[in-house]
Order: sequence, then C-alpha cells, then structure tokens
Amino acid sequence: MPRHTFARIDEQALVHNYRLASRLAGDARAMAVVKADGYGHGIGRVARALVDEAPCFAVACIEEAEALRGAGITHPIVLLEGAHSAEDTRRCALAGFSPVLHSGYQVDWLLSSGHNVPAFWVKVNTGMNRLGFRPEELPAVMERIQSAPGIGSVFSGFMTHFACADEMGSDSTERQRDVFVSAVADWPGEALSAANSAAHFRKGQSLFQWTRPGIMLYGASPMSNQTGLELGLVPVMTLESELIAVRTLRPGESVGYGETWQAQKPTPMGIVAIGYGDGYPRHAGTGTPAFINGQRVQLIGRVSMDMLAVDLSTVPDARPGDRVELWGANVSVDEVARHAGTIGYELLTGVTARVPRV
Ligand SMILES: Cc1ncc(COP(=O)(O)O)c(C=O)c1O
Repeated sequence: MPRHTFARIDEQALVHNYRLASRLAGDARAMAVVKADGYGHGIGRVARALVDEAPCFAVACIEEAEALRGAGITHPIVLLEGAHSAEDTRRCALAGFSPVLHSGYQVDWLLSSGHNVPAFWVKVNTGMNRLGFRPEELPAVMERIQSAPGIGSVFSGFMTHFACADEMGSDSTERQRDVFVSAVADWPGEALSAANSAAHFRKGQSLFQWTRPGIMLYGASPMSNQTGLELGLVPVMTLESELIAVRTLRPGESVGYGETWQAQKPTPMGIVAIGYGDGYPRHAGTGTPAFINGQRVQLIGRVSMDMLAVDLSTVPDARPGDRVELWGANVSVDEVARHAGTIGYELLTGVTARVPRV
C-alpha cells in the first residue's frame, strides 16, 4: 500500500484557466506555456487537457518539445530559450519545432544548418536583460535572416519578456512595451508577443498578436499582491497527504528538529506524511496553513524530509488516516509560498517525482 501522498490534477480547472487567459487576451491568441513539466503538473497531461483549447504550446528546451510530441501533441511548439547547439537546430527542423533566436550564434546555426525550421521568433531585449537582441542590433539580424533563401518566409514575429508585469505600481512594463513597439517599427505587420500571465491582468494595454500565459493556467497567482482565487483562477493542483500519528503534547514539549516550537499548554498535534523530500518547502514555518476535516490548521516546528507537524487544536477529533490538504482549493499555493518566502511557481515546479500525480 503506497503512502497517501498525492498531487491531484484537475484538468477542468486547467481548461477554465486557459479560457480566462484567452478571454483576457482579447484578439490575441494565447500559446500555453507548459515548460518545467507543465509547471510540475506533468507536461503530457497538461497539454492533452488543453489540446482542443490552445493553438500552440511553449516550452523552454528541445527535450520538453520532444516530450510533448511523445505525448501525441502535434500542435506548433515554440522553444522559448531556442536552440542550445547546432544539433538542436537540426532537431527543431526535423521535428517541426519553432525556436526563439535570442543570440547571434543561434542565427549562425539556423543559416548554416541546411535544414529549415517551420517557424521561428526573434527575441528583443527591451529591458529584462536576460535574453534577446538590443533594438539597435535588430536591423543587422533581420537583414541576415531576410536575405537567406527560404528563411525569411518562416519568420513568425518578434517576442520580448516583461520584468515587472506583476507589480501594478511599476511603470516598467509600459516602458518596455514602448521600447518594443519602436524597436520593431521597421517591420510593420509582423506578429508581436510580450505578455506573460501577469500582463493579462494589466488594464488598458494591447496584448499584441500572441500572449504566453504560464502560471495562471495552473491557477496560481502571477501577481505580487493577489491570490489566484482573487483573480478568478481555479487551482489545478491539490497537494494532499494524511495524518499518520496523533498525540497530545504537554506544556514545554516541542516537536521536530531543532525544538523550534514549544507547547505552552496541552496541544493536540498531528504528523503528516509529507516533507521537503516531496517538494513541500522546508522554509514554511510555524503558522503556515493546511486544511483538515473542513478546518484550517497551522504547521508547527520545522518541516522534515518526509514529515511535518500540525497543531490540531481546531480539529481535536482528527485521527490517523484523515486527509490533509497542503495546498489546493482551501489553502492557496500562493499563501503557502508567502509563508515560505517564495512564489507559487517554485512550489508547483518543486513537487518531486516521489509524489504521484493523479
Ligand atoms: C519567455 C517566457 N514567456 C512566458 C512565460 C510565462 O510566464 P508566467 O508563468 O509568468 O505566465 C515565461 C516564464 O517564465 C517565459 O520565460
């Protein structure tokens, strides 16, 4: 009998969230970002759930694109980091993947590969300073591409990425947007793509021709000050386990490594079969919420590799075998992330292979 520790994946929630992204995108089309194993949900499962919704999928690297093809997905697939070698470029051409070109060496590989990719994007660095050509480099890059036989005709458009779209008070997104529009002004009519999830929630902006929602598809919040639920998103993953031991701590007794928490009064306490070896964050301290038998409970002490402890004062009748939700519909992953000093992205992608996705 396996441990009762699972990540339940709600495929209807994925469809709901994609449709919301698509509505917010207006006239733009939304390519579903399914990198990092579908943000930890299982890339094949996620893509199959969205196959009738999304016209295109986006991944980071060729291995993820190949995993999608292996899962039976025949849609266009964009490689957001592009090729990592000349061999990758050849594999993109043969398998029909669309790489992003962000550096001159990728243009060299494309032009010298002797194979033609079905489509490709050119990345523009508008201020994120991670990947992409600076605006002043674009004319030379585009000249090389457009003068190469057969290559110009499969150019999909220009892409950029926002650094601060999650911060409503920041004007950096509008600045990046202006830099982008002016950088590509010499190539009118080409498709543009800039919006990550957060940009879908910024009012009064054109989202160009293609958006690239990731985290919102999984029901977690892209915004720094709002949860996914507050944005109308439905959590896709429920991380759940069970109580495997229950005891009452006496005043002065502690639980777990480091004895970091001590009972002030007799305290019913439960041990849950999940820990950082499963991807539950070790930095989630005392006070982090979980959900048992219809009530919120709080973590106490340090998270161990395979277990954590909860204060059962709000559910004194809880017993071994009772189900525990670590995050899901009743405790948002965004809330747990805040307690752990991180973001929902890291928690969702960090659930380890030991946890079956069901
Ligand atoms: C280039 C690019 N586009 C889109 C996304 C999706 O972003 P988000 O998950 O915030 O929607 C990412 C994710 O990091 C990305 O790197």
